[in-house]
Amino acid sequence: MPDPPFDAFRYANARRNEVAWLCQNTNHLVPPEVVQGALAECVERRRYESYPIAAGDPELLDLVRSDFGLPDQQPVVTSGGTEALYMLTRALLAAGDEVVASDPSYLIIHKFVELSGARTKNLDIYRAPYRLSSDRVQEAIGPKTKMLLLIDPLNPLGSGYPREEVRAIAELAHDHHLTLLNDVTYRDFSEGHALAAEFAPEETVTVWSVSKNCGLAGLRLGGLLALPDLAKRIARFNTNDLGVNVLAQAAAIAALRTKSAWIGAVVRQTRANGARIRDVVHGVEGVSLPVYPSRANMMAIDLGATGVTPEALQEHLLRDHGVFVRAGNYLSPAHGHKFVRISFSNAPADIERFAEAFPKAMAALRPPAPLAH
Ligand SMILES: Cc1ncc(COP(=O)(O)O)c(C=O)c1O
Repeated sequence: MPDPPFDAFRYANARRNEVAWLCQNTNHLVPPEVVQGALAECVERRRYESYPIAAGDPELLDLVRSDFGLPDQQPVVTSGGTEALYMLTRALLAAGDEVVASDPSYLIIHKFVELSGARTKNLDIYRAPYRLSSDRVQEAIGPKTKMLLLIDPLNPLGSGYPREEVRAIAELAHDHHLTLLNDVTYRDFSEGHALAAEFAPEETVTVWSVSKNCGLAGLRLGGLLALPDLAKRIARFNTNDLGVNVLAQAAAIAALRTKSAWIGAVVRQTRANGARIRDVVHGVEGVSLPVYPSRANMMAIDLGATGVTPEALQEHLLRDHGVFVRAGNYLSPAHGHKFVRISFSNAPADIERFAEAFPKAMAALRPPAPLAH
């Protein structure tokens, strides 16, 4: 029997404490005391024995509202932003509809679009400025278009949108009566970030998460914001009728209450790590960074000119060096064979492991140069 294919997540999870986790844009820089007390108190009081308030803890809802500064928009709390994305695509799209999106992108959203019977029209953005522009979006809008997908900053490239571009895309949504899905999972990493809801409050559904900014990915909490009527239409598709995890809500409350005190340091360390990765990457022939600096906590490393495949690099770095980066194929049908994605809200020691391992791995995997005649 042939060997089963290498399962990177299974391999890495079995070695959880030995692996530098640079593969899922998770954040390992939030001081642990920010949430540990709140979680311990929940356990101590056996809060897990009872159901939460179905609509979400009122303090959490208030904190989300004030974090976004959008008092008219109603927060819906879900098990991670992922569930919010599923609900809103189900609620707002039907067979035959089109969504203007990009490639690369966070393709799980595209999968949800397809589950609703709709399809995405993916604009190729793997060239400067590595993001959508209002001109290209306008050109792509047709009679079947129902939604625009604006992920800002963008996973996987780390590109972000200037305020004027957000405004222009929001105006397109307004003028064409389209839903604007503004996924802002990484917004706390992006200086001067602008919310589309500011410009098109009626058309925008803002999807948020505490997985990345607050370092709570394992607790699975996020949600959406929309004007009350739209929020109600979407919430009909809520499968968590009895509310989301009480521990997750307590941790999110503790994190959001204090975020202004620690997020600056998290972002500064993330930027410094990004700069260290850039220096390492620039030292290796043929490798480049499409987007630098990233406005998020991840970026793509392009290997296209080296002959090294992202899958081979992912496996080699993980098995031989305990460094987990992610091959791009799950993020881009057209370009995923050229890049790996690395995330870097991590302790500097993790970044140093990458710095040590990356040049060695590339040297080990690079095909030999053809002999000169
Ligand atoms: C753009 C984007 N949206 C949503 C999510 C989902 O986040 P959550 O952990 O809140 O489900 C991710 C996770 O990586 C993401 O990159």
